[in-house]
Amino acid sequence: MSLLTLDRASKRFGNRHALADVSLSVASGEIVALVGASGSGKSTLLRLLAGLEAPTSGRALFHDAEIDGPRPEIGVIFQEPRLLPWLSVADNVGFGLAHLNAVERERRVNRALDRVGLAAYAKTLPRELSGGMAQRVSIARALVGQPEVLLLDEPFSALDAFTRTDLQDHLLDLWREDRPTLVLVTHDLDEALVLADRVVLLAGPPGRIFAERPVALARPRERTSAAFQEEKRQLLSTLHAARSGRIYEPEVLEVP
Ligand SMILES: Nc1ncnc2c1ncn2[C@@H]1O[C@H](COP(=O)(O)OP(=O)(O)OP(=O)(O)O)[C@@H](O)[C@H]1O
Ligand SMILES: [Mg+2]
Repeated sequence: MSLLTLDRASKRFGNRHALADVSLSVASGEIVALVGASGSGKSTLLRLLAGLEAPTSGRALFHDAEIDGPRPEIGVIFQEPRLLPWLSVADNVGFGLAHLNAVERERRVNRALDRVGLAAYAKTLPRELSGGMAQRVSIARALVGQPEVLLLDEPFSALDAFTRTDLQDHLLDLWREDRPTLVLVTHDLDEALVLADRVVLLAGPPGRIFAERPVALARPRERTSAAFQEEKRQLLSTLHAARSGRIYEPEVLEVP
């Protein structure tokens, strides 16, 4: 059964066609990686699923109901942590839990910080954190409400390779506990292959889905294994074949 659905969704900004007729179904608990060149509509697709943008035509659905705005069941993690600088780590994480009483809020916040290895930093201010720690805080903030869906837009791309692989492993640990549905935008094919059940290639503008490939690797996945490298070779060749099937002239469509 599909938890998230795009049904022939298009998105125009003025006369710019960011997404054209995109259909995609994501199953509950599935991890989907979106890849594609800059401007191919990956962030736009994610923003439709997040309820941050509405499709110009077509539909974006969660549990078969139209997504008409941001909602607590769907968490979002952006490329930069976007923490509130004047609030402590704990208050940043607990920001969306104002409806809970103080004891319950603190319990949830502590657990979320514990899960990302930052229990000792509850009272710290964001400016005292490294980039990787700040991104862990934003993961904790996204997870504290136990969302069914987590949408991640290049969450680790600003980080060094060591921190990035750590956080990928960390995200997988968290995923094993609650099995949220993940849709992840990434430019990093290794990241897509470590995390995803399925890789979806967008090309554009106008953004369309050009290829899809399930990741045929058992978990846990070993980045240095021969099977991993072979899967990467095959993914690259799928992506290359899909891209060479068309000339990628950026086009600006005139609409009435
Ligand atoms: N708010 C906006 N207003 C106008 N045009 C926009 C807006 N957001 C996106 N676009 C346009 O839509 C297209 C897709 O943009 P989008 O940000 O989704 O691409 P992307 O695949 O995420 O690229 P990147 O890899 O660089 O992040 C681009 O042509 C972009 O200029
Ligand atoms: Mg983007």
